[in-house]
Amino acid sequence: MGNLTGKEVAQMHKDYVMQSWSKSGVDALPVEKAKGIYFWDYDGKKYADMASLLVCSNLGHELPEIVEAIKEQADKMCFMAPAYASEPKSKLAKMLVEAAGADHFKRVFFTNGGAESNENAIKMARMVTGRTKVFSCYRSYHGATLGASNASGDWRRFAAEIGGANGFVKFMNPQMYRDGYTYGVDDEVVTKKALADLDLQLRYEGPQNVAAILMESIVGANGVILPPKGYMEGVRKLCDKYGILMICDEVMAGFFRTGKWFAWQNFDFVPDMITFAKGVTCGYVQLGGVIVNKKVADYFEENVLQCGLTYSGHTLACAAGVAALTYYKEHNIEQHVAEMHEIVAPFMQKMVEKHKCVGEARCIGLFGALEMVKNKETREPLQEYGVPGTAMPWIFAELKKRGFATFGRENFIEVCPPLIITKEELEEYLPILDEVLTMADEKFCD
Ligand SMILES: Cc1ncc(COP(=O)(O)O)c(C=O)c1O
Repeated sequence: MGNLTGKEVAQMHKDYVMQSWSKSGVDALPVEKAKGIYFWDYDGKKYADMASLLVCSNLGHELPEIVEAIKEQADKMCFMAPAYASEPKSKLAKMLVEAAGADHFKRVFFTNGGAESNENAIKMARMVTGRTKVFSCYRSYHGATLGASNASGDWRRFAAEIGGANGFVKFMNPQMYRDGYTYGVDDEVVTKKALADLDLQLRYEGPQNVAAILMESIVGANGVILPPKGYMEGVRKLCDKYGILMICDEVMAGFFRTGKWFAWQNFDFVPDMITFAKGVTCGYVQLGGVIVNKKVADYFEENVLQCGLTYSGHTLACAAGVAALTYYKEHNIEQHVAEMHEIVAPFMQKMVEKHKCVGEARCIGLFGALEMVKNKETREPLQEYGVPGTAMPWIFAELKKRGFATFGRENFIEVCPPLIITKEELEEYLPILDEVLTMADEKFCD
């Protein structure tokens, strides 16, 4: 390792790697090293990781506490099979149940990442209820395996729909900027209408056939969409009314991204299952899983859990997880996120007031997105959903040129820095966003 030049790394990537969500043979930035909130390319150019890569590097890069825990575990035992108990797996399962709330939650099934977490939660819901259908939102992403992909709402599900998978039903989850404020109505009106629509749709599908409603507690990769007040609680009530299990996908929003262990803890309800990944290890070793409540756990005390993965509860990954969760707790990341939010959220609001191209700023904890528009009056998106365009790629490229690395999609920019970012780092990098938005105003707005 370490004997190739940056050019060679990039060329071999271009020649041999199939890149996610991309045509093959595209250029990729070769990255040599990372530390804290930064990573560096082979020319020594430094980038601030303002999206925590794919909103997973919550504790930044190369955190000594996680690296040391991995090294220590690697020296002792890298991997032990699922049917054996290992200290990191036992410890992590207990820590996760406690973080979710041991009064409701009881056990954890470990997977290798987010998609598998949702996949297995869906299987469990079907086994527990004996029902087939799974309701999920159009404005959502749940992963790229067959079931998780079919549950996802955005266009990334289309390839998985070619062969199909049984029983996936979509409903439209509200977005206030588009469904509420555009029409001059408030949260209460939107919530009431959205819940009535969902109830009706459930009745048309036959609620006795619905195993689960799977939702991101706060939609992430479709633009940090904050649910209108009362909406999630209303969905919970519908689940109770019809004996449906509620699965909250916390893959992106979990582990203090929103300021709490889990994003649903910002609201007034409790799900039946929580799916997680990303922030559980911050990507140092890949890991995911499902935390289940007593009802689901008890079912599998009487019935065989027909879920299994060679690497379920992978020892090295769980050791990274124990180190990450310990760090969140011992360094009071909750408090730090609350303090940094007080810098990021007002800055994002200022961007709305200052720039023609920013329609709305949404931010909870350090989970933020700017909604981009061509015209503030009409709220015409800078780039229409599902239509390839050049405006957003131009913005991301200009940000990257200036050392501000982030991502987004058709019409939003994610602002999700590592949770350990400091005031000084924010003050250094946020003005870059301001600068590029000024250029975007000129270039793209009416
Ligand atoms: C909410 C959510 N669920 C599931 C996934 C899929 O996770 P993975 O890519 O680890 O399979 C993602 C990935 O971004 C996600 O944001």
